[in-house]
Amino acid sequence: MTPLSKIRNPIFCALDTSDLGQATSWAAKLADAVGGVKLGLEFFNARGAKGITDVTRACELPLFLDLKFHDIPNTVAGAVKAVAPLKPAVMTIHAVGGRAMMEAAAKAAREAAEEYLVDRPLLMGVTVLTSMSDEDLSETGVAGTTLDQVRRLAELSKMAGLDGVICSPHEAATLRQDLGPNFKLITPGVRPVWAAANDQKRIMTPAEALAAGADYVVIGRPITAAPDQAAAAKRIVMELAA
Ligand code: C5P
Repeated sequence: MTPLSKIRNPIFCALDTSDLGQATSWAAKLADAVGGVKLGLEFFNARGAKGITDVTRACELPLFLDLKFHDIPNTVAGAVKAVAPLKPAVMTIHAVGGRAMMEAAAKAAREAAEEYLVDRPLLMGVTVLTSMSDEDLSETGVAGTTLDQVRRLAELSKMAGLDGVICSPHEAATLRQDLGPNFKLITPGVRPVWAAANDQKRIMTPAEALAAGADYVVIGRPITAAPDQAAAAKRIVMELAA
């Protein structure tokens, strides 16, 4: 599997399916077009670790394992260690789980990398899901705007030793300013101008997201729902270079 340091381009394609054949077919077609592939809860819960290995074998690309862990520190540390043999390049935990949970996850990621002789994954905090509005947040007991909460959780993620956060492209410029050049930012919610928005609401183009400070972008349906997945991905890459 390619290490993150040798990633071809900053695009992770979200392979959102529970179907093993579909995921491996997309992965094989995208092997020389995208930077990496993202597999999440839908696929992992249906196909497990074996399914993940099948997909990464089909493309040999960096794996973004998006399982968004959130539990007590000991359990999250155990979960981080449990997936280390899958050699994820990037993985996610919920920042709202708190400082002790994030510190335990970071320690577990370091220890597992030594134990399995693999590169340590980038450990990314999920701040506020972009599907949540200010009102949704207030219903959970959080006062203030989502941007306030995103900034607070991103700062906490950094203090706890995480490598970066997942955020909306609209938050990227603020977080880049708050947290400096080395803190990684990954943004979903991006759409090339020629693609349908689907259910994403506050979107930016991939080029705009990168210009705002994102290190990597996650793109799903504009690639996976295209008639020719590799061609769609290559078109996005060409637009980034323009
Ligand atoms: O198809 P689309 O490009 O909208 O896929 C985006 C991917 O990013 C999906 O896997 C989705 O779960 C994920 N995501 C998101 N918004 C977040 C966090 C993750 O769209 N806030």
